[in-house]
Amino acid sequence: MFFSFVKSTVNRGRPFYSASRSLKQIAFVFDIDGVLVRGSKALPTAKPALELLNKNNIPFILLTNGGGVTESSRVNFLSSEIGVPLSPLQIVQSHTPLKAQINKYKRVMVVGGPNDSARHCALEYGFKDVIMPIDLVRKDPSISPHHRFTQEELNKFALKDVDISTPVDAVLVFNDPRDMSTDIQIILDMLNSKNGVIGTHREHTTTTLRSTPSIPIIFSNNDFLWANDYKLPRFGQGAVRLMIEALYAESNSGAKLESTIMGKPFKVSYDYAHHVLIDWKAKMATNGGVTLQNESSAQILPELGVTPTNSPFDKIYMVGDNPASDIKGANDAGWESLLLRTGVYRDQDWGSAIAHPTAGVHNDVLASVRETLRTNGFDV
Ligand code: G3P
Ligand code: MG
Repeated sequence: MFFSFVKSTVNRGRPFYSASRSLKQIAFVFDIDGVLVRGSKALPTAKPALELLNKNNIPFILLTNGGGVTESSRVNFLSSEIGVPLSPLQIVQSHTPLKAQINKYKRVMVVGGPNDSARHCALEYGFKDVIMPIDLVRKDPSISPHHRFTQEELNKFALKDVDISTPVDAVLVFNDPRDMSTDIQIILDMLNSKNGVIGTHREHTTTTLRSTPSIPIIFSNNDFLWANDYKLPRFGQGAVRLMIEALYAESNSGAKLESTIMGKPFKVSYDYAHHVLIDWKAKMATNGGVTLQNESSAQILPELGVTPTNSPFDKIYMVGDNPASDIKGANDAGWESLLLRTGVYRDQDWGSAIAHPTAGVHNDVLASVRETLRTNGFDV
C-alpha cells in the first residue's frame, strides 16, 4: 500500500499526514523508582519527558512495584516532586490490583510501608477489617522482643486494644517492611497459626511437608533489588519473601511456602495496567486533553487476570530500570521495552540480564521518550 506523506508539523510537533493512514496510537507506561525518581528526589529529565508527552497528547501511566500508601498520596508526592500534574487514575502500584479482592477476605493483615499508611490504603480499597503487626505489638509488646516502635508511634499508628479473637483470613504484603524483625515474626506466626487465630500454633506433624500455610499470603512485588538514592541497589520485597520462605521451611520440615506473588514482571499486573491505560486515554479524550481527576473512584475497576481485548493502541512503550521486572514483564506482555541506566541496571549487567529491551538502552527517561517519538514520526 502506498502512502504519500506531506510531513509538516502542526502546533504540537505532531506530523501531519496527507494520506488516509491514521496516526499510530502509542502510549507509554513508566516505572517510577530509577526512572522518574531516586528515593525522594526527582531525576532531572523526568519533568521534560512527561511534559513532552502531555504536549503531544500522548497517554501515559505509571506502573510501579512501589506502594504502601494510597494512589492519591503517591501521585500528590510525585506531582509536586517532578513538577508535572498527575492523577490517581494514572498510577498502578504493586498492590493496586488487590482492589479486586476486597470481597474475598473478611479480615486481612496488611504489612509494610510507612507507619500505618497501608491500613488506610486497604480501607480505601474497601477491605472492611484491616489489622497490622503494629496493632499486635501495642496489644502485647512481648510478641516482638526487639520491636522498633516508640510509645508515641504505638499510640498514634496502632489500633487501641485490637480484637485478637477474630481470625485473620490472609496476609497482604503491601510494601517493604520498616520493622523487619516484627513483621517477619508476626507473618510467620500467622502462616503457622491455627486457621489464622492470633497467638495459636497449628499442630506440627513432622511426617507431612506443609507447603500450604494456615492462611494465604500475597506478596505485592517480587523485586530482589530496587534503586533508591543510595549508589548501589537495595534489597526489595522479593528479598523479604526469600527470608520468610527460609523461616517457613525451617519451621515446616523443609516445606516450600506456597504464596501468591503480584507486581512486575507478572502478567496480572501488566494486564491490569493496560486496562487502566485504556481508561485513562478515554478520560483524556472526553476532556480534550490531559485531565486531572480527583475522584479515584471514577476509575473503571478492571477484573484481575483479564487481558484487554479493546485496546486502541498500536504500541505500548514500557520504560524501566530493572530487566527482571520492567523489561521482562513488558516483553512478555507484547509491549515494547526501553531500559534506562538511571536505576538498577548497569551496562556490565547486559550478559546476565534475564530480559533485554526491544527498543534499546538509554541514558535517561527524556532520551528514551524522544527517541520513541521520533521513531513514530513526531518532530521532537
Ligand atoms: O519498593 C519499590 C521497588 O520495589 C521498585 O519500585 O517503581 O522501580 O517498580 P519501581
Ligand atoms: Mg524501578
